[in-house]
Amino acid sequence: MLNPEPKLHAPLGLLAELTHRCPLGCPYCSNPLELDARETELDTETWLRVFKEAAALGVLQTHLSGGEPASRRDLEVIAKSARDAGIYVNLITSGVGIPDARMEKLADAGIDHVQISIQDSEADSADHIAGYRGAYKRKDELARVVRKIGLPLTVNMVVHRANIARISDMVALAIKLGATRIEIAHVQYYGWALKNRAALMPTREQVDRAVEEVNTLRERHKGEIVIDAVVPDYYAKYPKACMGGWARRSLNITPGGRALPCHAAEIIPSLTFWNVREHSLRDIWMNAPSFKAFRGTEWMQEPCRSCERREVDFGGCRCQALLLTGDARATDPVCHLSPHHAELAEMAADRTEQPYDYRRLKAPAPQT
Ligand code: SF4
Ligand code: FES
Repeated sequence: MLNPEPKLHAPLGLLAELTHRCPLGCPYCSNPLELDARETELDTETWLRVFKEAAALGVLQTHLSGGEPASRRDLEVIAKSARDAGIYVNLITSGVGIPDARMEKLADAGIDHVQISIQDSEADSADHIAGYRGAYKRKDELARVVRKIGLPLTVNMVVHRANIARISDMVALAIKLGATRIEIAHVQYYGWALKNRAALMPTREQVDRAVEEVNTLRERHKGEIVIDAVVPDYYAKYPKACMGGWARRSLNITPGGRALPCHAAEIIPSLTFWNVREHSLRDIWMNAPSFKAFRGTEWMQEPCRSCERREVDFGGCRCQALLLTGDARATDPVCHLSPHHAELAEMAADRTEQPYDYRRLKAPAPQT
């Protein structure tokens, strides 16, 4: 029996995309191709209000993200407001553009945890992937400062064809840097990543080896570091429960203030998004049509509609369904029961060697 009136949980997490400005140009970025310009970003006061409303709504944790959140000069004020509201504050940073003294100020302001993305264990390759010479060195330095200050550190490694052979080295690097957790996240193909799919896609054999390697590394480093791994979509049998279910547990705010049920939702043309400039977070969570669109199971088509996993994975990812089938209500083609599942293998087979199309605002692509 479908659940037409799903119980409305409070959101637990808020991804605050403070800005799309970023010194790096990673080709796997999941930000939209149309990035928000600086002039359209929310002002400080609005963010302070958003965090008060978020806490009142039940949000326990926020990820200050971007782009590079430190591109905003008011990051300390924003972080403090979230912490003062009683929210756990995770800073997601490229690691570039935060001088040591600023990291100390950010810790004083109330950052509870830092996540630094590192593109590869080899400096030249890492800099090439990031599209920024010297990025690796700066990340390494910032990680050491974070640990010296005493903040917990997570290293994030986005895995693709150019670095998939060095997962073990990346785990060793994360341990050396004092991280207590590493995220091994295979590329999810939205935004810039979809544009660069052929240049990023690993082979099935590489992915199988990587999955085995992660299992071995987990055993070897038990008690030393937590290894979280996101399974690569295109080679999976079942889809991920994207966002833990649409508008079920978390929400995103874009730099310009649009409230989204997931970071890629703006690609779904049938949806419009309320802005925190005009609506309270509570109003958005309870009433915004875009949040109600795929909440629960009522919207589902077959095979999801009668599937016993429909409240396990919620039919997978709405954005991926739209991108790959043209219908946001379709079963995510990652699912082996989707009529489009076979097409994924064809898409994954296109691994054309080509230069990266680096993520950028309007400026020319960075070079290394
Ligand atoms: Fe999940 Fe739908 Fe596939 Fe069932 S048919 S496993 S609900 S994606
Ligand atoms: Fe939008 Fe998965 S990214 S639902």
